Amino acid sequence: MDMKQELAEAIVDPKSYKDFDKIHAVFTELRQTAPVALAKPVGFEPFWFISKFEHVRAVEADNETFHAGDLPTILVDAETNRITVEEVGSPHRFLTLVQMDGEKHKAYRDLTASWFGPRSLRNLEPRIRNRMHQTIERMAQTGDSCDFAHDVALLYPLRVIMDVLGVDDDAEELMLRLTQEIFGSGDPEANATGRTYTTPQEQQEAVAAIAAEAYGYFTALTEERRKNPKDDLATLLSNGTINGEKLGDVETFGYYAITATAGHDTTSNSTSAGMIALCEQPDLLAKLQADPSLIPGLVEESIRWESPVKHFMRSATRDTQVGGQAIKQGDWMMSNFASANRDEDVYDNPFEFDITRKPNRHMALGYGPHVCLGQHLARLEMRIFWEELLPRLKSVELTGPVKRVGASFVSGPFSVPIKFELT
Ligand code: HEM
Repeated sequence: MDMKQELAEAIVDPKSYKDFDKIHAVFTELRQTAPVALAKPVGFEPFWFISKFEHVRAVEADNETFHAGDLPTILVDAETNRITVEEVGSPHRFLTLVQMDGEKHKAYRDLTASWFGPRSLRNLEPRIRNRMHQTIERMAQTGDSCDFAHDVALLYPLRVIMDVLGVDDDAEELMLRLTQEIFGSGDPEANATGRTYTTPQEQQEAVAAIAAEAYGYFTALTEERRKNPKDDLATLLSNGTINGEKLGDVETFGYYAITATAGHDTTSNSTSAGMIALCEQPDLLAKLQADPSLIPGLVEESIRWESPVKHFMRSATRDTQVGGQAIKQGDWMMSNFASANRDEDVYDNPFEFDITRKPNRHMALGYGPHVCLGQHLARLEMRIFWEELLPRLKSVELTGPVKRVGASFVSGPFSVPIKFELT
């Protein structure tokens, strides 16, 4: 079934995502009236919009039928895709886990899977707590008010992931630009680098430039770690083998790029969602302080609520169906996690932020073979964030409107002005 044109245009328009209620109203209408609908927005190749939890889960679970890498893995307009294919010979400027399928994906993922497992992450806990102590100090230095999203939530996960990778503090500015340019969208207000783009060509040039710069940095890091191995992910990527062979240069860079970027805005967006809830629910702070065992519930609900990764794209490798709708081989489709996470058939009161929700199964970290590799790290660093901050937070309130990133792929609050008191 074809989607109403105005809904299709709203889904692809980055500006729609600045207004949380507006974009969720679009998703809700689609879940209720056309759960698997063909969108034909002007300037884009048509794609199926998958809005319900069970259909998103079915698509994500079946990587054989629904490939990640044959067509663009995130929503791009036809012109951006044309430029990318012309320049790099494929729809992907980076070759990362996200764009791989089948055996290759499994082999590359297995390389670091145990590194990102809960047991090995336990060793990182003291360093993460240390990063959080620094974060609270920075917050304290702002006085009694700050922009929580920008001044507190933004840099903490970046520094954690830099520790994981083994990237020195002096590369922070480069890492920040890398995440902002790749995920950052053309939203001039929200891009922490302050960059704006007027054409897809200009934006692609900016991404290519930062990719080249980061490539130089990571290549030097790889050479360094081959000479002087350490206990970090860079050492594993530099010296690891797949089927007895060292990783290819493109794949090594892709691995660095995905780990450096995937865990940054996603985690800070979810943390900001938690802070907004604390401000909007006056009894929540005292409740969490009285019973810290509620913190994992806060973390999980923040991730569901925000669903910072709004979608990933897939394409069908054969004729099939989703939710009774015929899908042809080669069709492009959007698994929409943000919509799935508000599905009325799965959640009681999906539009309520409820830290006691049980069970809180959600799609915000994906599902199946591509499920977020950093999910345990994300939960761990967010739990530590609140375990350290809450005992020191005497009061907090919003002092102005929350502002959100205008982007259809990764988006969340980039400005959360607060007034607070720390002990
Ligand atoms: C709250 C924070 C996070 C959210 C919401 C999130 C969300 C996601 C989602 C939706 C996917 C795609 C899953 C799918 O296609 O089924 C993904 C994949 C991935 N994430 Fe995360 N992520 C978060 C944090 C992190 C962190 C901290 C890292 C650390 C390195 C990370 C690394 C990755 C990687 C490497 C992949 C690709 C996995 C694959 O394709 O096999 N993410 N994430």
